[in-house]
Amino acid sequence: MKEFAHTPVMLQEVLQYLKPEPGAMILDATVGWGGHAEAIAQRLQPGGLLVGIDRDPQAIAAARERLGVLGAGTTLINANFADLSVVLDTFARPLDGALFDLGVSSPQLDDPERGFSYRADAPLDMRMDPHESVSAYHLVNGLSEAELESIIRRFGEERWAKRIAAFIVRRRQTHGLIHTTGELVDVICAAVPVQGRSRGGMHPARRTFQALRIAVNNELGSLEAALREVVPYLRPGGRLVVISFHSLEDRIAKNVLREFARDCICPPEWHACQCGGGRALVRSLTPHPVRPSDEELAVNPRARSAKMRVVERCAEGQRGRDAGGETLRLHGSGGDVDVPSLADTLARWEPGAAPRSARGRPRGGPLGPTPGSVVL
Ligand SMILES: C[S@@+](CC[C@H](N)C(=O)[O-])C[C@H]1O[C@@H](n2cnc3c(N)ncnc32)[C@H](O)[C@@H]1O
Repeated sequence: MKEFAHTPVMLQEVLQYLKPEPGAMILDATVGWGGHAEAIAQRLQPGGLLVGIDRDPQAIAAARERLGVLGAGTTLINANFADLSVVLDTFARPLDGALFDLGVSSPQLDDPERGFSYRADAPLDMRMDPHESVSAYHLVNGLSEAELESIIRRFGEERWAKRIAAFIVRRRQTHGLIHTTGELVDVICAAVPVQGRSRGGMHPARRTFQALRIAVNNELGSLEAALREVVPYLRPGGRLVVISFHSLEDRIAKNVLREFARDCICPPEWHACQCGGGRALVRSLTPHPVRPSDEELAVNPRARSAKMRVVERCAEGQRGRDAGGETLRLHGSGGDVDVPSLADTLARWEPGAAPRSARGRPRGGPLGPTPGSVVL
């Protein structure tokens, strides 16, 4: 197995908020190479259980090697966290805590063969789960100019999205398909005017790579689905910690958790409360997101954009029990979670858009199975 290091972000803060104790059960929904998981799992013994999920089989294999010494105290599962009710329904007990440490890990970024990095020349891939059928190659070569622009603008928040999309399509017409990250970086660098580049030294390809990665893995749709699913599994007093690395993830975490924290669940157009209030399922422990300390940033610059939000399950609120058609459920339902499709996600999480309910959305995978089948 390849050795690549990943330093867990805000580890002390995670432990402080999750408070892992002997006998408890904690979900690490993004177990990765097992950094947070190891520290948590050690504190759950004797008698506790760390359930770790990752959609990347390489991550699960690495975590298994690292956490194997803890034996029965850990269970590791190769799955998308959007399907976490399928996993959690197999345990007949509520969660004492859950952690989402989003994005990609250093080993994924640093392995040139995975195609996540604009710093290495590799096949265009970016799939966290290599069994998924759509890679960055399919998007870059199969989407129309308008679709590429839309993805790059919305998921990369890239002001040069229109030019980059036009340059990609022109390059396809003149030179054929784009096969590698290096070829794509050259096209992006040609598209972004030198005078328009960030003064902070951000690589001109960084935002476009982020956008493609988010789209390939339907990261925002999975996140929204998983956050809606996980809260009802927490026991009263149980805590959910979400660490995000860009504004799109943080916006979803903020808005979904805020929805769960609302006392009144009546539609905003109703002038008077009909639900009786007292419906909050969680309360926020972090009115403002927690940021890494200067000491941490000095040793781990990759933590620089991290933001942590924490909520605690309320003892009283039973929102979802009798709210007729509510999206929130007290128990998982064996995998019928609605994962918003890429098109839904684009529409719902456009910067500045008011959050809308995911209720009634059709179930959808990351993208259609073949290039050209993507309808935005
Ligand atoms: C930042 S890393 C986690 C690192 C980990 N906390 C540690 O300390 O080693 C994020 C991990 O989440 C995984 N991941 C991202 N989206 C996922 C999803 N929808 N379902 C399951 N795993 C996911 C990635 O494959 C990656 O391994």
